[in-house]
Amino acid sequence: MTNSLVTVAYIAASALFILSLAGLSHQETARKGNIYGILGMVIALGATALSAEVTSYSTLAAVVIPGGIIGAIVASRVAMTSMPELVAILHSFVGLAAVLVGIANYLQPESGLSGAEEAIHHIEIYLGVFIGAITFTGSIVAFAKLRAIIGSKPLMLPARHFLNIGMLVGSVILGTQFMGAASTSGLQPLLIMTAIASLLGIHLVAAIGGADMPVVISMLNSYSGWAAAAAGFMLGNDLLIITGALVGSSGAILSYIMCKAMNRGFLSVILGGFGAAPKSGGSKSADAPVGEATSTTIEDTVELLKNAKNVIIAPGYGMAVAQAQHPVAQITKILRDRGTNVRFGIHPVAGRLPGHMNVLLAEANVPYDIVLEMDEINEDFTETDLVLVIGANDTVNPSALTDPESPIAGMPVLEVWNAKNVVVMKRGMSSGYAGVDNPLFYNDNTEMLFGDARQNVDAILGQLAALNTKTAVAA
Ligand code: TAP
Repeated sequence: MTNSLVTVAYIAASALFILSLAGLSHQETARKGNIYGILGMVIALGATALSAEVTSYSTLAAVVIPGGIIGAIVASRVAMTSMPELVAILHSFVGLAAVLVGIANYLQPESGLSGAEEAIHHIEIYLGVFIGAITFTGSIVAFAKLRAIIGSKPLMLPARHFLNIGMLVGSVILGTQFMGAASTSGLQPLLIMTAIASLLGIHLVAAIGGADMPVVISMLNSYSGWAAAAAGFMLGNDLLIITGALVGSSGAILSYIMCKAMNRGFLSVILGGFGAAPKSGGSKSADAPVGEATSTTIEDTVELLKNAKNVIIAPGYGMAVAQAQHPVAQITKILRDRGTNVRFGIHPVAGRLPGHMNVLLAEANVPYDIVLEMDEINEDFTETDLVLVIGANDTVNPSALTDPESPIAGMPVLEVWNAKNVVVMKRGMSSGYAGVDNPLFYNDNTEMLFGDARQNVDAILGQLAALNTKTAVAA
């Protein structure tokens, strides 16, 4: 393939990636966005494989084919609830790739650059390896936290911010040595900086508590984009630069949106919790239950549903685990057919990945116009007869607003307790992701419907459907 054809293919792929991002930003167009992204990637891979730079197809096939097969198997098997772990580990590969490309690029003897060009090339390598190493180890720590291999409590080392600053200053000093080194003798400072940046990545992510993990994931997403863009500069590959910049900037915007949604300082999270007041770690023992919960039955819940004019459903991680979205959609349809105003209130960090609940509800064909964001629906709870909380916990926890010591203090939540009645579906009294007790469960207007969300929702659906049949026969 000639160079100009490769350039045309790269421009087409870049345009498709931009269309993909635009499509993915709305539920209605998300599927189309996904297809644009796949098309863009097929063109990008095809053009790269056919470009003149590729001289050995056997080497390329030896890495691309097994990589593709492993990726396809892992992606098809992953449960939606484990998606953040997969994303975190994939980010770590991007980081590692940037480090390896950077070091290999530095050692490449025939780069043929001199003067200012060589200096710029060395800056690209140094920055690419630095960001890549932080992304690599930070993503591994995020993966381990999400998989519960290590605890989700923030690691609060004494003078941790000075440690971070020290590592940063050390990296800058090594950078000056690297830039001043002749030929490939800068390898030593480059490798020492790689080790320091790897430690920095571990420390930055370890210092962030479980409740702030959504922001960390999108932040590492952004870092992986910048690492890829840096690798693009090193390799002189325009498509990698554009794609990396798109991932980097969209990840940064998503982190900002999530920070706003959780009322967290953007810089504070990026700098490993800098400026954040130390909060209680959210251990279950420290946050022991403070009241008595009232349990309810399927029959009573169906009775409440029958009599309610306005119903809001607040889904959370438990609905995803139980895979209850399909019967929930059917219940919604039956109630709407009966004239009940049913809507969904979606918290920005409900579940385990951005948009998790929206994806599940879309999969179950719940109409988009009744799925509302927290900001759009929060004021309506006072006018609501019944809220069904299905497997949500942290996102409906009033202590976020009332307890300044809580690990989720300051995070806006769905104010479900303002409704006339609240029914919470969960299996027991255990806490949510942030590990804090939830005073909502002990409110006078809250009743707990214990059990697996899928079984309970199925049972409610069964009774509502039977009721509908009876009504139809009577008519
Ligand atoms: P959580 O606070 O995690 O609570 C989920 C609840 O679901 C648990 O208390 C659990 O209680 C219940 N549950 C689990 N399996 C169930 C089942 N089969 N049937 C019924 N209930 C079940 O959920 P949330 O309100 O969605 O909040 C999300 C949390 O995850 C936030 O703290 C957020 O910061 C964090 N997080 C979010 C993301 C993103 S990007 N969304 C990423 C990482 C972390 P039982 O065990 O008693 O049933």
